[in-house]
Order: sequence, then C-alpha cells, then structure tokens
Amino acid sequence: MSTSSDRKVEEAGHISHVQLTRGQRVKAHFRKWWWAHLINFCVFVVVVMIVAVYGIIPPVAQKLIDKTTLSINAFSITSPTGTSFKLGMDGTIKGATGPADHAVIDSFPVKLFLDDVRVNGDIRPILEFPVPKAHGGGDIHVLQNDIPISITDEGALDQYASRLMDSVEMRVGLRGRTTIHLGAIHTDVNYNEVVQLKGLNKLTGMVITKYTLHTNNSEGNVGGDVLIPNPTVTTIEMGDVGLKISYKGAAMGTGVIKNLILKPGNHTYGFMSHITPDDNILKLATVAIQKDSLTIGSNGTSINGVKIPWLSKPLETMESTVPINTDYFKEKGISPS
Ligand SMILES: *[C@@H]1O[C@H](CO)[C@@H](O)[C@H](O)[C@H]1NC(C)=O
Ligand SMILES: *[C@@H]1O[C@H](CO)[C@@H](O)[C@H](O)[C@H]1NC(C)=O
Ligand SMILES: *[C@@H]1O[C@H](CO)[C@@H](O)[C@H](O)[C@H]1NC(C)=O
Repeated sequence: MSTSSDRKVEEAGHISHVQLTRGQRVKAHFRKWWWAHLINFCVFVVVVMIVAVYGIIPPVAQKLIDKTTLSINAFSITSPTGTSFKLGMDGTIKGATGPADHAVIDSFPVKLFLDDVRVNGDIRPILEFPVPKAHGGGDIHVLQNDIPISITDEGALDQYASRLMDSVEMRVGLRGRTTIHLGAIHTDVNYNEVVQLKGLNKLTGMVITKYTLHTNNSEGNVGGDVLIPNPTVTTIEMGDVGLKISYKGAAMGTGVIKNLILKPGNHTYGFMSHITPDDNILKLATVAIQKDSLTIGSNGTSINGVKIPWLSKPLETMESTVPINTDYFKEKGISPS
C-alpha cells in the first residue's frame, strides 16, 4: 500500500532527494536519542513511584485505617493484684473492605486512655496491649484473652476505674502505630479510635432479693442475694468486696460479697453479713416487710486478704440505696440469674 505522500513523490517524477516523512523523522530521532529517552522514562517512573509511595500511598493507607470502626463486644479485667491484672477483649473492626480487602496490618501495641484526660496536653495511657496481625476484607474479629497487664501508672488506672464505676457513658481512646501492607507496598499508619462505652453508673439499681438468718455461723448472721445491674460489656473480677450496711444514717453492720465476678447484665450474687447488735436484725425484718431501702457502702476489696487499692478506691466512694425486696423476681415475672 502506498501513502499519499509516496504518490506525490512518484507523480513529480523525482527519485533522488526524497523528503523524509514525519514518521521517518520521528524514527530517526529515536534511533539517535533512544538512550536520552530511556533515561527520561526511567526518571519519570521513579518520580511517579516516589510520589505514589511517599505522597499518595501513605494518606490513602491512612484513610483506609481511619474509616474502620472498632466495636467492643466484651472486655474483661481478671486476676487483679495491686500491681497487675489480666485483660481480655473481644472486638470487631468493621470497614476494612473495598481497597482494604487485601490489606494486612502488622501486629502492634495499642494504648488505651480516657479520651478527655490529658496531662500537660498529653494523653495519659492507662494500659497498653497488643493487637494481633490482621487481614482486611470483611469484619476483623479481635479476640484477646488473659493479656497480662502490669500497672505502670496507678494514677491513670485509678481515674479509669473511678470513671468506669461512676459514669453512665464514657469515651475511651485507643492509639497506636502500625505498618499496613498493600500488595508489595507497605507504609506506616496511625491507629486512632475513640469508642463510646457504658459505665457502671454507681451500680444503680441494686436490690436485695433474698435474705436469710443464720444462727451459729462464724461467717455472719444474715445472708442473702443481691442483684447488681451491670450495664457495661465489662466483666470485672472484684475479689472479696467489703460492705458497710446502714439504715437511715445508723450503722447496722458489715458484710462481704465473696469472690465477686461482676458479669454484664442483671445477676444476683450471694452476700453474708454481721448485723449487730441483735435488735438490728429485727429492724432489718421491718425494712424487708416494708420493702424499704438500706444504704450500702464499701470499705474496699481484697483477694486472699490482700487489699487491691485501684479497685477499692472507686468502691469506697460508692453509697447505694438498696431496697430489700424478696418479691423482686415475682413482681418482674422473671427468674433469678
Ligand atoms: C454451734 O456450732 C458448734 C460447732 O459447729 C457446735 O459445737 C455448737 O454446739 C453449736 N451451737 C449451737 C447453739 O448450735
Ligand atoms: C437490668 O435491669 C434494669 C432495671 O430493672 C433494666 O432497665 C435493664 O434493661 C436490665 N438489663 C438487662 C440486661 O436485663
Ligand atoms: C472491711 O471491713 C471488714 C470488717 O471490719 C473487714 O473484715 C475487711 O477486711 C475490710 N475489707 C477491706 C477490703 O478493707
């Protein structure tokens, strides 16, 4: 096939001094300068890579992390001592989908803190725990059991325990830094999440649902069951919680809920008390008949006779109005749990 310019050359009858076509000129140029173009191309690729790796990928990767949300299904604080406890967490990270489907994040330590407690403008972490390596694509289930936590900042933990005891709702922040892998590329990202959690609300709603008199029992003369509502997702091993029982401002005696493991929901726990002197036992019977309320405070908690300060402090500030209502479950039409 001949091009129109070839035809022009033939028509004019010229054989020599052929004008190069545009295509031929371009080819000739590249034959001579290929190396310069190759260098330019390589420089271009490197610039694109640098922009992508340092300029585009990190913010994109950060956005992938930022748009995830963490919901905490369950939290547990067990085996408390004065200097340590064990932490459990069952959470779900949602939103790691779309471009994050094939993303992998390295395991990393995350710091937990109260969202609004800052010291000199810095957040003050309560504790640190490891988040395992995770893959994107659907919900990421984070289940951690019995993570040993040593208490490094007692003041911060005190604040956390008090907030948990006293609040209806609380905001907890989680912060960390990890590496995200997107195929062959990896980049560092910040993990920064604030979670709204329910608090224990001063254990409001406690009810003594059962009480029995004990004779000749060294552990006490009045025992029973107390319903303690726990609206949180947190299970807390509290130890032997000491009780201070009074009625209309007058002390009635002391008691204990042994080995209290406060579970989420409304559950009953056994207690034993020393009501003294004896005529207070009669008064107690009157309170029960009238479905009247006692005032119950605490002198803290201990495990194997050793006091746990960070759990005791919030308990010691507690003062709850607790009715004696042995018909509680009958009235509610539910069975005790
Ligand atoms: C009380 O218990 C002790 C030991 O279990 C027994 O020896 C004693 O007889 C009991 N007293 C009464 C009044 O039941
Ligand atoms: C616990 O009891 C309170 C008060 O009766 C009620 O509002 C709440 O829904 C109950 N919670 C559960 C988990 O049953
Ligand atoms: C609370 O008081 C009772 C009675 O005085 C005592 O036996 C118990 O050890 C105290 N508990 C704590 C944790 O101080």
